[in-house]
Amino acid sequence: MMATAAATHQPVPEVLPRHVAIIMDGNGRWAARRHLPRAAGHRAGVEAVRTVTRAARAMGLEALTLYAFSSENWRRPEDEVSGLMGLLKFFIRHDLAELVRENVRLRVIGDYRRFPADVVALVEDAVERTAANTGPILAIALNYGAQAELVAAAQRLAARAAAGGMDPAAIDVDAVERELETRELPPLDLLIRTSGEQRLSNFLLWQAAYAELLFVETLWPDFGAADLAAAVDAFGRRQRRYGGL
Ligand code: FPP
Repeated sequence: MMATAAATHQPVPEVLPRHVAIIMDGNGRWAARRHLPRAAGHRAGVEAVRTVTRAARAMGLEALTLYAFSSENWRRPEDEVSGLMGLLKFFIRHDLAELVRENVRLRVIGDYRRFPADVVALVEDAVERTAANTGPILAIALNYGAQAELVAAAQRLAARAAAGGMDPAAIDVDAVERELETRELPPLDLLIRTSGEQRLSNFLLWQAAYAELLFVETLWPDFGAADLAAAVDAFGRRQRRYGGL
């Protein structure tokens, strides 16, 4: 059952991850199990986005990053791609007022400018309207791919070095991080993938270097406030050693 109403009643764990990212997988299988079209699974997935973003806020997470559309998702049938764009528009139109009111800063990572012009305009307007907020960050990954993000970072650094503006030896971890799309987000602490698949699928590869990885069987549309609380709780019970003992 979805734990929508329980969002504010979950006990807040003692050790909170600052930044949680989620690969929202399993919409198609959720629909197939109900003999529904895949689009119905994505629609239910948007409900889960709403539930989980509210729960993340109630818990006090500083940042939540959601993988909504990968740079590989263009390979899906055209009607599924346009359906996902439609759902993104639906989400922004219906939830932007709440995000503004709740002091959420909406951010986008990925090459979203490749989306249709009306989606780009809507996304940019939404980001702009929450830009002055000071609260938690909701980052949505749109046409995002980690390898492309790293290639772009490498190109910018190389161009700066070639122009004489930077010593190549000065390119270190911090210099790369300053070029990443997540530069304004806290370090990634916990990366969750739903639906039982155990892959990163080109999501936040650099940022996941020291993140705790959690793979859960739950299909994304069934993932609710209680599941997020359980994931955060599991994070709190793990010992992070960062290569030490
Ligand atoms: C994976 O399920 C899910 C996606 C590719 C899209 C995720 C998008 C949403 C939840 C809706 C739009 C997002 C926002 C932020 C409004 P799948 O289709 O790969 O599932 P399957 O592996 O079971 O087929």
